[in-house]
Amino acid sequence: MFKIIRVKDAEEGGKKAFELIKEGIENGAQVLGLATGSTPETLYQEMVKSDVDFSNCVSINLDEYIGLSGDNDQSYRYFMNSHLFNQKPFKATYVPNGKAEDLAAECRHYEEILANHPIDIQILGIGENAHIGFNEPGTPFDAPTQVVELTESTINANKRNFEKIEDVPTTAISMGIGSIMKSKKVILIAYGEAKAEAIANTINGEITIDVPASVLQNHPDVTIILDDAAASKL
Ligand code: GLP
Repeated sequence: MFKIIRVKDAEEGGKKAFELIKEGIENGAQVLGLATGSTPETLYQEMVKSDVDFSNCVSINLDEYIGLSGDNDQSYRYFMNSHLFNQKPFKATYVPNGKAEDLAAECRHYEEILANHPIDIQILGIGENAHIGFNEPGTPFDAPTQVVELTESTINANKRNFEKIEDVPTTAISMGIGSIMKSKKVILIAYGEAKAEAIANTINGEITIDVPASVLQNHPDVTIILDDAAASKL
């Protein structure tokens, strides 16, 4: 069963998510699975302004666009550095290398990182089509870290961050759903009307690869933080 926490806005949601992370760290969590997108921004703000020490923690991010280097301000590595890591040092931070020459080797390397650092707490946003990480509808639940083609819906949703739609990468490296499911605890966060249907399908719909986040119904410890708009179709 999901534990659902309703919040009035992203600011309160960030505070709630931060409390859960703080509690987790106090109880020994050391590996944080982190996400990008606008949703976790308020959580990262809370982490930055807190006095919690993350220097014994390792972070493993979900995904990265192929073709963007870490100094490209649209890359997820850049996002993580500027929103969190530059202000709060971690012991190690992992984001897939979108510029890797051998992408298959990079995916295998990421799987090794995950095997060496089992995730204690995984933060997730959700796509409008219920993707998690960049695992689009149709992705097998047991797929490992792999190269993925982004759907039109995802490219459209993410174009707001780019100057023009042609600049949005069409492929990415994404941690697989299997790895997400192996994390001890999952915190899924969603704000806004655009996520309402994905959230309703995730929580009340059938478990199907057509709704990637519905797999979370099989996970024993998932907390979902929602504002009213994201919860409006429940
Ligand atoms: C991207 C990321 C996801 C994220 C989603 C939603 O597709 N790969 O991890 O959950 O965007 O982003 P936002 O939080 O900006 O709505």
